[in-house]
Amino acid sequence: MNTNRYIIVTGAGGSIGSAITRSLAHEGHNVIMACRNVAKDTPLCQEIDKECPGTVTIMQLDLASLDSIKSFADNIKDKGYAIEALINNAGVMNKKYRTTHEGYEMTIGVNFLGTYLLTELLLPSIVDGGSITFTTSLTRYIGTVDEHFFDLTADNYGRFRAYSRSKLATTLYTAHLAQKLSARNIHVNAADPGVVDTGMIRMDAWFDPLADKLFRPIISTPRQGALSALTAYRTPCSGEIFEKTRHHAIPKRLRQHRYTSWLIAEAERLTTQWR
Ligand SMILES: NC(=O)c1ccc[n+]([C@@H]2O[C@H](COP(=O)([O-])OP(=O)(O)OC[C@H]3O[C@@H](n4cnc5c(N)ncnc54)[C@H](OP(=O)(O)O)[C@@H]3O)[C@@H](O)[C@H]2O)c1
Repeated sequence: MNTNRYIIVTGAGGSIGSAITRSLAHEGHNVIMACRNVAKDTPLCQEIDKECPGTVTIMQLDLASLDSIKSFADNIKDKGYAIEALINNAGVMNKKYRTTHEGYEMTIGVNFLGTYLLTELLLPSIVDGGSITFTTSLTRYIGTVDEHFFDLTADNYGRFRAYSRSKLATTLYTAHLAQKLSARNIHVNAADPGVVDTGMIRMDAWFDPLADKLFRPIISTPRQGALSALTAYRTPCSGEIFEKTRHHAIPKRLRQHRYTSWLIAEAERLTTQWR
């Protein structure tokens, strides 16, 4: 283990995030648990630290606040940490319309815009040859990204509408960044955990009884769900989507999506003040 190198896991106290963190700590990596609610997730950090002394630290990061993202990234820079991997695991799917500190719809704000800003601000701290993993979902197939992407309101809000948009946008950004960072040999991939039995999916005791019947046999445990991000971290390739231990190139229709340039330009414009 290189003692100056760190792996950042966002949402490290969540179901899949804690499985990712525990696995990396057991392998001897230094893991920074980037958590929204430090008080809630500190017992987990202490538990993992007992199992693997000296491997985990916890830091506050609220992806629903661009100020919080900026101070997290500044903190990493000030400490001079070399980041060997950034695992963007945190995510939300809200039943009701909510907004971030800056007024963006929460799912888009956390899963895409906040994650975008965090990644951009951390780029100078990520070592050449390092890796960045984003978390996608099967819902990317039903999501849309167009010039109305940021326009969700309380009136036109639907949780799957918002969530699928955010995951498609994340996948488009993954493809964009994979290409952009190839000169630095930074591996950029998306991890799709599958359908995992977590707080997110348990949310309303299931979508409906039919979905429960269909999905229950294929539902994974958080440990199984964590495999996608862990395999992405361990595999030296870029621009791929990982589904547990299998992976394939991000499809051409997403690599060449007509709204990717617009999306990245908009995200850059909306976050200029924090860069
Ligand atoms: N479960 C599935 O079937 C499934 C399928 C495909 C993709 N995914 C993706 O997998 C990832 C992990 O989800 P999960 O299923 O493990 O759900 P989870 O248990 O609800 O974990 C979500 C994590 O994200 C964190 N988070 C939420 N809002 C945040 C914010 N504003 N700032 C920082 N962190 C925030 C949560 O922190 P708090 O606990 O403090 O809120 C929690 O640690 C997500 O990106 C999700 O979209 C899940």
